[in-house]
Amino acid sequence: MLREIAAVGADPARGGFSRAGYSDADRELREWFTGHAEARGLDLERDRNGTLWAWWNPAGSSEDAVITGSHLDSVPGGGGYDGPLGVASALAAVDLLEARGVVPARPVGIAVFPEEEGSRFGVACLGSRLMSGAISPERALALADREGDTLAEALRRDGLDPALVGPDPERLARISSFVELHVEQGRGLIDLDQPVAIASSILGHGRWRVTVDGQGNHAGTTLMDDRRDPMVAAARMIVEIRDLARRTPDARATVGRLEPVPGGTNVIASQVRFWIDIRHPDDLVTAALVSEARDRVLSTALDEGCRAEVREESLSPTVDFDLGLREALRATLADAPELGTGAGHDAGVLAASVPTAMLFVRNPTGISHSPEELVEDADAELGAVALADVLQRLAAPTAGAVVGADHMMAR
Ligand code: GLV
Ligand code: MN
Ligand code: MN
Repeated sequence: MLREIAAVGADPARGGFSRAGYSDADRELREWFTGHAEARGLDLERDRNGTLWAWWNPAGSSEDAVITGSHLDSVPGGGGYDGPLGVASALAAVDLLEARGVVPARPVGIAVFPEEEGSRFGVACLGSRLMSGAISPERALALADREGDTLAEALRRDGLDPALVGPDPERLARISSFVELHVEQGRGLIDLDQPVAIASSILGHGRWRVTVDGQGNHAGTTLMDDRRDPMVAAARMIVEIRDLARRTPDARATVGRLEPVPGGTNVIASQVRFWIDIRHPDDLVTAALVSEARDRVLSTALDEGCRAEVREESLSPTVDFDLGLREALRATLADAPELGTGAGHDAGVLAASVPTAMLFVRNPTGISHSPEELVEDADAELGAVALADVLQRLAAPTAGAVVGADHMMAR
C-alpha cells in the first residue's frame, strides 16, 4: 500500500516527502485512504475537526469503539513511514481480521488525524488537540503558516467549516481505546533485536518561538563594531541552548527552523526568528530548561545590542500510557518489549481523554524525520499482525473488563 503513494509529496530538493497538512499532497493521500476504505466496504466519515474515520462495524453498535490509525502528513523532507505506516497497517489489520473470520463485537475505527507534525501551522497534533480540547478553536484557527495563511482559511478551502471546529466530547465518549502503530523513531528495537514493541511513555515536549530584533543594515558599509546583528545573536543562542541540554541528563533541545528577515546575502538581518524544541521525561526539569533557555536568549540578545522575545507555542506533559491497556497488549504480544519514545504522537494527546497505547515497528536505520527512515517489509507484516491481534482482543465482547479506568498518568 505504501508503494502506491511513493510519488505523493516526494521532495526533489530535500529528498523524502514533504506532505504538509491540508496541502495538495495531503489531499491526495486522504483520497488514497478513502479509496482503500471504500474498497473494504468501511463507512467513511470526516469529522468537524478534519479527522477521517473509516468504520468496520458489523455489529452496528455505536459505543465502546476500538480505534487505531495515525496520520498522513509529514515533516519537510521526512520519511515515508512516520504516520502512513500506522494507517496502512490499520487497513492491513482489518484485512487480516476479516480473513480470520473475526466479527468484532464493537466498532473498529481507523482514524487519520490532520496536521500531526505541526509542520505547516506550528502546533503538532492539531486534530487530536482540537477534538480533546487541548487547544482552543480560537487559538487554532488563528495559527498561520509561512505564507500567512491561517488555519481557518486552509480549513475553509478544504471544505470544513471553521465555526464548527472544537472539542468533541460525544465522539470521545464513544471510544473505549486507541492503539496507534508507528515506526520506531530511534534505535530502541535495533538494540533489543526485536521487530515490534509496546510503548510505555512519551517524553514531555514543547515548542518555543524566539524572535530576535536587531538593526538591518548594509554588509559592506557597516563596521563590525557598529552592528546589531540578530543572526550573530541567534547563532550564539543556539549554541548555548545545545550546551544547556548537554549538561542536563536525558534532555533534548533542538533548533531546526530559523528564518532571517529579510534574508539577503549582503544584508545584515533586521530580525531572526527561530524555534526551540525541548524535551525531557520530568516536566519540572522541562520547565527549568525553558526558564534557563529564556534567560540566556534575553541576556545574549542584550550583549549583541538586540532585543529578544520567547513565546511558548505548545507544551505536552510526559505521558505514561494506560496501564490496563498496556497489560492487555502484553498479554497479547508476549515477546514484545516495552519501549519509551522521545517522539510526540496523537496517542499522547488523546491519552488525557481515552485509554491509549502504541506499537512501535523496528526502523533498521534508527533515523527518522529524514528520508533515511526505513521499515523492512517483513517487519511491517509483523507489525500489522501484532496490531490485528491487539484489535481482535480489544474488540472481543469481554475486552471492556481488561481496560481499566486508569487511562493516563501524567507524571
Ligand atoms: C513528532 O514526530 C515529534 O515528535 O515532533
Ligand atoms: Mn508520527
Ligand atoms: Mn513525526
